[in-house]
Amino acid sequence: MTYEATRDRLEHYFDRTASDTWARLTSDAPVSRVRRTVREGRDAMRAALLARLPADLSGLRLLDAGAGAGQMTQALAERGAEVVAADISPSLLAVAQRRIPERLHARIRFVAGDMLDEELGSFDHVVAMDSLIHYRPADIAAALARLAARTEGAILFTIAPRTPLLTAFWAAGQLFPRSDRSPAIQPLADAALAAALRRAGVAGRLTRVARIARGFYISQAMELVP
Ligand SMILES: C[S@@+](CC[C@H](N)C(=O)[O-])C[C@H]1O[C@@H](n2cnc3c(N)ncnc32)[C@H](O)[C@@H]1O
Repeated sequence: MTYEATRDRLEHYFDRTASDTWARLTSDAPVSRVRRTVREGRDAMRAALLARLPADLSGLRLLDAGAGAGQMTQALAERGAEVVAADISPSLLAVAQRRIPERLHARIRFVAGDMLDEELGSFDHVVAMDSLIHYRPADIAAALARLAARTEGAILFTIAPRTPLLTAFWAAGQLFPRSDRSPAIQPLADAALAAALRRAGVAGRLTRVARIARGFYISQAMELVP
């Protein structure tokens, strides 16, 4: 599947199929036990990514790439950053706009569209939490190459680590038609990511920041400093 085809499926999934589910997961509303573990894992991941950034982001321009319902956007703006919150799903961005306190809106530009769009400008740092995990390794590397060309500091992003459990999920997912289920995630080992980045001509320091596993949430934070 090409980058565009994956992106279109994700748009359909996050903007329509799963928009309400995602809005609920990212709120304080009660959710099932399984989803609670996902929520806890996502909170821990957000904290791990934020810990890599300066506590004071005043005057810095950050891209929240695939901002979803805006939890990371809000945290970045609270630290003083000027944030571009880009997401392919207008309905999730509308949730973000509704939820984020008015006092922060002057520092946030909400953009419904592709997070790789060059029109978004250049950045001091980029954060892409769980927004690249559905793309093929070569597309992840190409996306990082495009972001690296416009980023001064760190690109913080997550991958789905290649654990036996995730690999089994992924393999099982290939057997079924996926019309209305979540698009498959692409488990990726660190070495395969490094190789894909080399092939895409991306130089820079690649570091594993954290691996978070809580129930059904398994994700690995990476940092690329171009
Ligand atoms: C799993 S959600 C994570 C949202 C948010 N980063 C968070 O952690 O709360 C993935 C988000 O990435 C967005 N996304 C995926 N591909 C994108 C693209 N090419 N451009 C913009 N947004 C994209 C989806 O619409 C979705 O909202």
